[in-house]
Order: sequence, then structure tokens, then C-alpha cells
Amino acid sequence: MSEGAPEPVPTIRWIDGGVRILDQRRLPRIERYLHLEHPRQVIGAIRTLAVRGAPALGIAGAYGLALAAARALEAGRDPRAAALRWAPRLAAARPTAVNLSLGVNEAVASIAALEAGQSPGELVSRLKENGDRMLREDLDASARMAEHGVGLIPAGRPVLTHCNTGGLATAGLGTALAVIWKAWRERGVPFVLVDETRPLLQGGRLTLWELRRWGIPARLICDGAAAWAIRSFDAGAILVGADRISANGDTANKIGTLAAALAAWDAGIPFIVVAPRTSFDLNISQGDAIPVEERGREEILAASGWQAGAGVVSYNPAFDVTPARLITAWVSDRGVERPPFEE
Ligand code: MRU
Repeated sequence: MSEGAPEPVPTIRWIDGGVRILDQRRLPRIERYLHLEHPRQVIGAIRTLAVRGAPALGIAGAYGLALAAARALEAGRDPRAAALRWAPRLAAARPTAVNLSLGVNEAVASIAALEAGQSPGELVSRLKENGDRMLREDLDASARMAEHGVGLIPAGRPVLTHCNTGGLATAGLGTALAVIWKAWRERGVPFVLVDETRPLLQGGRLTLWELRRWGIPARLICDGAAAWAIRSFDAGAILVGADRISANGDTANKIGTLAAALAAWDAGIPFIVVAPRTSFDLNISQGDAIPVEERGREEILAASGWQAGAGVVSYNPAFDVTPARLITAWVSDRGVERPPFEE
């Protein structure tokens, strides 16, 4: 990263033949690790957001396939067949972050690249090493994004962020949050306005937890306060991550991102997307082709005091798509980019 950078959170690691994840459902109150030994458990952890954030999902998908092969080998079955059988199920665990299917597809490609005659044990090691490689590359991408993005941040003014784009969502210090860390160190950003990020509170629970670990001052706000807060505190920029960016720059990210972009546009401040190239999907030309995950109504009913059986009709999209015209810059591990993006 750079001098003085804090240690990344050990969000996801391959340990003792299994995948160890920090259970993000319990944060900030409890720091509990889960040891996943079967791809079924990885799918459960992904669906329930025990592990989440686009880059971390890619690594989880890659390791999930290694687990499928390892368990088959132990049971005397064909690890290659098992991995290929689990691949589509892992890739479909959540639809929006392109990193998940990319992680699974890269694992499948690493199986295809194995020379004929290699032992089943070598196949398992290859899949595990493929996940390790993705983890290392993501750590490196995080450092690069921080370097590339810091110069875009107006000095001496607060910034606002939405959802969680820190070490909990990646292998490194994060995407947007890594830029924010560097801007706090080098550009005198005095504090961060943190959208709580309804309904699962990734901002309030996770981003705040990470900023406090780093000693960065923060103010927690309701999502609905964002437009007013950037005016009240003369914020210099809004920074967010991405789950999938189409070739024309339309960007899918946590629900509420589009509203934040509109607020930035009206206030005349930069709206900056920070994401590794692994979150760019150049097979999709524009945002309306990005699959948007819809989650269960129980996630939004409880806060309003309704029971599941009360017949309340709801709509709970987990993401929205911000049109490219509202985005000032896309910071990737390659640099500051603008669409149309090239391979
Ligand atoms: O539903 P989540 O918590 O997985 O959503 C995460 C986000 O929307 C993040 O902003 C995005 O994945 C970028 S993380 C570096």
C-alpha cells in the first residue's frame, strides 16, 4: 500500500484446508470467524452476506470451487467433475457483482489449463492457488486504486461514502475506502460522512468499524440525510465502489448510490467510482442489462414494525444502476478512466 498503511482485515483466507471468513453479519459487535469446509457453506455465506463486497465475492467463488474439488477427492470421487458441477451454483449465489462469476470462471479455466495426466491432488492445489492469486492481485489492486484516486479528492474538505468498500469487501484496504484512507493522510480530509446504507447497514456497521480501526473521524448519517449533509458540511466529493460497470460506464452499486449521485450532481461536487478492473463487465454495453438482485422483504419489513404475514407489499432491490453521465471519474487499478472502456 503505502508507508504507514494499516494491516488489511483478514476478511477471507484459505486456512487448514478450508476457507476462513470474518462473519460480517455479526459486526461491529462480535468479531467471529467461520470455517467453511464445503461449497454449500460458501453459497450460504454469500447469500446471507457473511462474506460480501464485489472483490471478496470473487475470491470466495474461486475458493468455493477448490473446496468442491477437495471434498470430492477425500470422498474418492472425481474432483474435476465435482468442481464443474458446483461452478454454476456458486456463480449464481448472488447475481449483480460480476466478480463472483469471474472468480468461478477463472477457477474453471485453471482446471481446463491443467495438462492431461496430472493427479487429482494437483487439481485441488491448482484451484487453491488460483484463489490465492486472486487474493494477492486484489491486495495489489487496492494499493493502486488508492494511489490513482487520491489526487482527485479536494483537499481539506470532508467526503461522503455509501455502503462498505473497505478491507471487508476486498483483500486489501478496499476500493473507495482505500482512496479515502490515503486522502485523510495526504489531503487533509477532516472526516467522512458515512451513509448507514439501509436496509442491512453496511455503512453504519462495517464502514464505521473500519474507519474507527484506522482512527479516521466519521459522522454516521441516515441515507436520506446525504443530500443535506454534503451541503451542510461543504463535502468535497462522494466516493463509492461498484459491483458491475458496463462498457459505457453505467455503474451498479448498493441501493442508494443513484440517489447519492444525484445529490452530488446537484451540489456540483465530484461523484467518483472506485473499482478494480475485475468489476468491469465489458460484455455488457450499458447498465440496463446488468442483473439487479432483489432480496427478501423481511429485510425491510421489520424496521417498520410489520410481521411477515401482514400482507405488506414491498420492493427490496439490493443495488441500483447510476448512469455514466452522473459519474465524474472511474478510478481502477489501471488509473483514472473514462468510458468507453477498453479491454
Ligand atoms: O450487498 P453488498 O454488501 O455485497 O454490496 C456491496 C456494495 O455494493 C459495494 O459497494 C461494492 O461491492 C463495492 S465493494 C469494494
